[in-house]
Amino acid sequence: MEIQCGVAGVSILSEIKMGHMSFELIAETRAALIAQVAGYASEYLTGVDGRAVAPSTEAVAGLAALCGALPDGPTSADAVVEMLHRYGSPATTVNSAGRYFGFVNGGMVPAALGAAMLVNAWDNNAGLRVLSPVAAELEATAIGWVAELLGLDAEVGRGGIGGAVVTGATMANFCCLAAARYAILERAGWDVEQDGLFGAPPITVVVGEEVHSSLVKALGMLGLGRNRVIRVPVDGQGRMRVDALPHLDANTILCLQAGNVNTGAFDPAAAICPAARVAGTWIHVDGAFGLWAAASPAYKHLTAGYELADSWATDGHKWPNVGYDCGVALVRDAAALKAAMSISAAYLVQGEAREPSHYNPELSRRARGVELWAALRSLGRAGMAGIVERTSAHARRFAEGLRAAGFEVLNDVVINQVLVSFGTPERTLAVVAGLQREGTCWCAATVWQGRTAMRISVSSWVTSEADVEASLGAMVRVATGTAV
Ligand SMILES: Cc1ncc(COP(=O)(O)O)c(C=O)c1O
Repeated sequence: MEIQCGVAGVSILSEIKMGHMSFELIAETRAALIAQVAGYASEYLTGVDGRAVAPSTEAVAGLAALCGALPDGPTSADAVVEMLHRYGSPATTVNSAGRYFGFVNGGMVPAALGAAMLVNAWDNNAGLRVLSPVAAELEATAIGWVAELLGLDAEVGRGGIGGAVVTGATMANFCCLAAARYAILERAGWDVEQDGLFGAPPITVVVGEEVHSSLVKALGMLGLGRNRVIRVPVDGQGRMRVDALPHLDANTILCLQAGNVNTGAFDPAAAICPAARVAGTWIHVDGAFGLWAAASPAYKHLTAGYELADSWATDGHKWPNVGYDCGVALVRDAAALKAAMSISAAYLVQGEAREPSHYNPELSRRARGVELWAALRSLGRAGMAGIVERTSAHARRFAEGLRAAGFEVLNDVVINQVLVSFGTPERTLAVVAGLQREGTCWCAATVWQGRTAMRISVSSWVTSEADVEASLGAMVRVATGTAV
């Protein structure tokens, strides 16, 4: 079967296979494909506002058209992307309009979207500077900007030294904890990178009872154990209780959290960090979204004390609205991160300047640092502060509106997270399911300290007051009409 592409009736793949396609024709074909995809992308982004946030069951069932057997022969690129748009686009959850409040998912600021498209056209490997000078430079610059926005000392992360741009906060936690593991054992005379953990001096890991599961997973991946931790009791908002902290020493990694995934609460770093530092404890901060509060003069006070830590993990794809996948690790002792992540081989050309592969877990990787750079360059300080302030104000409005309608808000709304109960667990779950079906907005269910709740996370730059009012209306309508 001869499948034709949109340009001059030429079958791209069969011509390439025969080695007959001229570069001019390849360039022309690519340009036509980009125009075709740009049309689909803008059709999608324009159309999503009128669509239910969750895809319909018919749309999800339609994916069967893409999931059949691998064809024997080639299919032209334009036919492939046409299929993707026809069957794939309707089966998405709409993150890019303003009424998606699930998990802590942002939208994607336009500069990040544009950068992502360009980065894909470049198709550069960001693992080594020589493979992509632009990726290496912009990643290093962006890491420095992140450190600055998070209010960290000038020696942290500047020029990308002691920093990594990874796939998300899970991997950022992993990198930071790997650096911590290296540094603590190195002080004890043990080289964990060369000799592993068997027979190594013990490390104590302290976390709060409300530690995020991704940090626990990172501990598991590092051989430090998911359960081999001391869990510190927390208060009703999920904050570590200072009076319940165990003895801290130089063999300890203390993991604090800036922004609880349910309540948005912050561990009291200002009360904990000074003494922990004196004890020589490695202080790590999981600040996947909450740490960005430091970028706003109005919310900065919530992050007081975190600047005293040794390492910080955060996400670009949450509050900064960078797009997936983008997380950032920052480590004060840059040499410890480098020792944990560095790689060398005869064929890997290493320059004098920062080599990305010495600070990241991966070797070959996409240039996601460019998208982070683009988002921060377009937002500037004021734009980043604006997202924090606007989304937090929206969260307060949700809480106020739901309380006024007679429902119980379970958390102190300190940033962008709201937990609401509609009564019994069964009723709350039925309201969440009903709301997801109704389609105006999308929220997930959670359990907060034994109480089933609906969780509203306002994280997107797109969300407007009108989105909040429409969503609030839908929540109240669905909740009052749900009888369980
Ligand atoms: C506090 C915290 N840490 C870590 C993570 C994991 O982030 P990611 O999904 O980017 O790996 C999250 C995700 O919501 C989080 O809220």
